[in-house]
Amino acid sequence: MKTQKTDVLVIGSGLAGIMTAELLSVHKNVIIFTKNRLEDSNSYLAQGGIAAAIQSEDSWYDHFLDTLQAGCYHNEPEATQQLVEGGPDAIHRLVELGVRFDRNDDGTYQYGQEGAHNRARILHICGDATGKHLIDTVKRRVLSHGLVQEGQTVVRLMMSRGRCVGAWSIDQNGEWTATYASTVILATGGLSGLYPFNSNAETITGDGIALAYEAGAEISDLEFIQFHPTLLVTEGKSSGLVTEAVRGQGAKLVDQDGRSLMEGEHPLEDLAPRDVVSRVLYRARQSGKETFLDIRGITDFEKKFPTVTRLCRKGNIDLQEGFIPVSPGAHFTMGGIDVDRQGATTVPNLYAVGEVANTGVHGANRLASNSLLEGVVFACEVANSILSNMCSVPVERTVQWSDLPVLVQSPEFSSIQAVFNDHIGIERNRIGLEKAVRWFEGHLTNTVYQEFPNLQDIQMYQHVLVGALVARSALERTESRGSHYRTDHPIEKEYWRQKRIKRRKRAYEPVESTARP
Ligand code: SIN
Repeated sequence: MKTQKTDVLVIGSGLAGIMTAELLSVHKNVIIFTKNRLEDSNSYLAQGGIAAAIQSEDSWYDHFLDTLQAGCYHNEPEATQQLVEGGPDAIHRLVELGVRFDRNDDGTYQYGQEGAHNRARILHICGDATGKHLIDTVKRRVLSHGLVQEGQTVVRLMMSRGRCVGAWSIDQNGEWTATYASTVILATGGLSGLYPFNSNAETITGDGIALAYEAGAEISDLEFIQFHPTLLVTEGKSSGLVTEAVRGQGAKLVDQDGRSLMEGEHPLEDLAPRDVVSRVLYRARQSGKETFLDIRGITDFEKKFPTVTRLCRKGNIDLQEGFIPVSPGAHFTMGGIDVDRQGATTVPNLYAVGEVANTGVHGANRLASNSLLEGVVFACEVANSILSNMCSVPVERTVQWSDLPVLVQSPEFSSIQAVFNDHIGIERNRIGLEKAVRWFEGHLTNTVYQEFPNLQDIQMYQHVLVGALVARSALERTESRGSHYRTDHPIEKEYWRQKRIKRRKRAYEPVESTARP
């Protein structure tokens, strides 16, 4: 086994991860691991932009209220304030790094509008290519510092005397590496890739959640998974996102007869919060309707939305006709690894940042374009906290290897996705969730430990573990709030207000019936 050591190991290469690495690299040795290529992240695919209250007639407080309302007041208020108050600084920091947000002819910023924002406050780059340009800018810097190791999949966090001291990984040739680090930062994204219909990069499958859970970290709010209303549909499959900014420019959701789907459903109609719009579309499709974005009212569509245009061309969709076939699909994980306001998990020396972390800022449903903002704001917090704390932590040199869990019989990835889709989707109920819990936990009860299992078997164990955690949380929350909608408990309940479902590793228990109010 190869070994290496560093001050900080960042696992994941989305905006939050590489931004944290870039900030730390001035003072520390940093390594970034990414499973595949540096560009394989959700940040790279982000279209809409980055929300920040920077106009004089806007305020952090208005942005705060929109974030809480979209999050159905499940948000952690202090962290949410930290997020939105940090917006203007985050934008300045990005501009200093060389990011060029779109401007009008008079030099002022162009602001996009998306669902559940009370005003246009979303900065973007090259129309709908915001994530690509943000990543490209920060990427140049981390590459020039030689921080990145591509093709490294972390399979276990290294623990010594209750602290995280590094990670074991496998590269694409099957070679194992032990990386010792004073601090480890998980920045692996959420878990939406475990759904068959999703907007995510293929590599985003909940790995960080599984790694942290196995290391004893607390995980919370996993029942809150955001479904984006408008994924492009080609040949019955999801083939990318159609940004909500398209509706911000006036596009309407319609059925195959051109009838509005959102009229009368919510005061904000097509710009209602994502959970509301997704449910309306889901039900329309369940009743046999087809669902489209009517873009006929948008001038210069191709110029404003070059990424969507490219995706549509690839899928042979004729934009001149003015209708884009769309369907809701899994998009963002609001819950994740519990962290404090500096990104520290409950495991010493282990941090989490970006979508994998549960900072509490998104509540039960994330406000559009708040995730890139979270990535930048919390990258700064994590970097500052590490820089002020780590000088006394020595890098470990040897940690004893212990065998890894794998399933006696690994299911197919498509079977895992089918359980997510069928039982933990946009609408859930007790019977379906119990089936999902039984399916995932049933597989987990047949776990064995192997010395050096192959990567695929390790990953299947992790996917099933994450499935069990999500299904259990969704079963336990006997109410509907934001993205978590239970047909058998269709209303928000006071009992559940601000209650978080938390999980920490312990022995598996049999499925119990969850008789809660
Ligand atoms: C979008 O552009 O619609 C997605 C942006 C986001 O999820 O915040």
